[in-house]
Amino acid sequence: MVKHKLRGADFLSLKSLDGGELEALIEDSMRLKQEGVKGHRPLANKVIGLLFEKPSTRTRVSFEVAVLRLGGYPMVLIGQGLQLDRGESIEDTGRVLSRYVDGLVVRTFGQDRLEALAGSSGMPVVNALSDQCHPCQALADMLTVQEYKGSLKGLKLAYIGDGNNVTHSLMRAGTKLGMNVSVATPKGREPLDFIIEECREYCDIYGSSLELGNDPATCAAEADVLYTDVWVSMGASEQDKRDLDEFMPFQVNQGMLSLAGEDVMVMHCLPAHRGEEITDEVIDGSHSAVWDQAENRLHAQVALLSMIFG
Ligand code: CP
Ligand code: NVA
Repeated sequence: MVKHKLRGADFLSLKSLDGGELEALIEDSMRLKQEGVKGHRPLANKVIGLLFEKPSTRTRVSFEVAVLRLGGYPMVLIGQGLQLDRGESIEDTGRVLSRYVDGLVVRTFGQDRLEALAGSSGMPVVNALSDQCHPCQALADMLTVQEYKGSLKGLKLAYIGDGNNVTHSLMRAGTKLGMNVSVATPKGREPLDFIIEECREYCDIYGSSLELGNDPATCAAEADVLYTDVWVSMGASEQDKRDLDEFMPFQVNQGMLSLAGEDVMVMHCLPAHRGEEITDEVIDGSHSAVWDQAENRLHAQVALLSMIFG
């Protein structure tokens, strides 16, 4: 079902998959992780452009490896090295690239840039992070929770920190997968209203819940998963880079951890700003799942690409 839906399709956000399709994608990721791709080469003779307008370690390298595993050739295109950087339009760039490559994985600023590339190129475009969301991250995150906890439904997923692209994709994934999602941010740093509204609809459909607030202790209480991310994201405006003191009560430290459930797993999409949103003792501690989480970027993307190009 999900294979059919994703084949030849764009993956710009988690809006495009329903809960069952998301579950199927996570199951496939787990199977491919355990069994390997076994000579399956859906990308044979295909070139996938990896267009990055922002820095990346995990996403870029894991997509390069995923494309190679599936038999394709990953072509890294850094935004600053393209005519895009001198004002060529995103649409013209999409039209031209589609004459050379078979698909694009794109990290950029506005979601509209991804939509413009998808529209003008007519080939599959995968969101490798935008200012608005980071859907490939959430796929790996859900795979990691599934591995650690055995199931997702009914778990309390607490996200504490800045309401950002990672938060938005986690909210969408969690509420579509039956989790009880709780988000605590400083005032003024809440997730986007339209995504909150969208997720409330998912709660009605999938029997999940969504709690939003500005109190980190309430959010962390009895959490099964404690998740945080940087306080200042790539491409943030000067306004967003203001004094970080207001974020300090949202630091995931030993005190915060003690409020959570006994078997809580700690997650962070990385890169971490140690000493800001998370302390060394927590990220390096026994509850931390961050290295498995980073590894799972690869497995989730192998599954995603094999569905799109399978
Ligand atoms: N988590 C994540 O997307 O990391 P990179 O910015 O290194 O790709
Ligand atoms: N919110 C972070 C995530 C980095 C993977 C950013 O956009 O910079």
